[in-house]
Amino acid sequence: MTLRAVVRGVGHYLPARVVPNAEFVNWIDTSDEWIRTRSGIERRHFAAEGETTSVLATEAARAALNDAGMEASEIDAIVVATSTADFTFPSVATMVQSNLGMTRGFAFDLQAVCAGYVYALTTANALILAGQAKTVLVIGAETFSKLMDWTDRSTSVLFGDGAGALILEAQEQPGTNQDRGILASDLNSDGQFKDLLYVDGGVSTGTTGHLRMQGKEVFRHAIEKLAETAHTALEKAGLTSDDVDWIVPHQANIRIIEGTAKRMQVPMERVIVTVQDHGNTSAASIPLAISVGRARGQIKPGDLIVTEAIGGGLAWGSVVLRI
Ligand code: UT7
Repeated sequence: MTLRAVVRGVGHYLPARVVPNAEFVNWIDTSDEWIRTRSGIERRHFAAEGETTSVLATEAARAALNDAGMEASEIDAIVVATSTADFTFPSVATMVQSNLGMTRGFAFDLQAVCAGYVYALTTANALILAGQAKTVLVIGAETFSKLMDWTDRSTSVLFGDGAGALILEAQEQPGTNQDRGILASDLNSDGQFKDLLYVDGGVSTGTTGHLRMQGKEVFRHAIEKLAETAHTALEKAGLTSDDVDWIVPHQANIRIIEGTAKRMQVPMERVIVTVQDHGNTSAASIPLAISVGRARGQIKPGDLIVTEAIGGGLAWGSVVLRI
């Protein structure tokens, strides 16, 4: 028998306000047609005033706990992937811990921008395999609307707010690649590309700053790197693209999602796509897509999922898991 980090519960939360592409036309030179054809985005959710990342994260956590039929007191650790923490510190994770009424265990944030959830799943898996925790609440939560330069049409139309959560639980499995749980992962970063996607604020400037992106360059790296990292993770698990029931990609751009699926030789019928409804929610996009994919009846118990994501850093990676 082999110890695996198995998904016990899934949940998500989206702020109530939905902003269709047409709204942007009121303040920048853009069109619904450009946004749809260049990115696949039709609408996104924006958090209300005071609806911070920890609020979104807490709601997603509650949904996942409810799905698992678990109490917060049964959670050993909370990992939150985010680049939009309410404050420089304390971590969003400890704020969630407090909101859930948990007074034991440990909680911390992890920041790998849009690849954050792939990094968080890998870290939570390592905590479980090392015996540090039996149950880990892994949250991806973001309020990227707070980082937008509303005069920059090349970025402001692309991002949205939201949160998703998975509860991973230590379970003994037979020890084959048919096991449930996390089967393999692949993480990468290359800081020489740090200027392609960054926020021009932080403690060095005393401001929150705005997101800056060389979209075309990031696009090129995404097309090149995402299929490769997914392939590497599958290979580590002794699996191939043919075994994949669902690609759950980071939802940045439909053209990147389609390009990666094509390179992996997986038809779009086996790809979870939510970018049209959520835009790019950075570290929240993968757990959001897993939760929505399951709610739609697409993802079912026993399905093999491969996630892949790339973002600022550049940082990218992939996780293979059986739901
Ligand atoms: O999650 C983190 C990772 N991020 C990503 O994966 C994003 C990767 N990049 C992309 O998704 C795409 O590069 C974008 C959607 C950001 C842009 O698409 P593109 O096809 O690469 O367009 P572009 O940047 O080459 O811009 C084409 C034209 C430009 O006009 P000119 O210079 O050709 O006259 C832009 O000024 O489109 C113009 N443009 C716009 N036009 C209308 C840029 N933004 C807009 C806009 N509305 N919102």
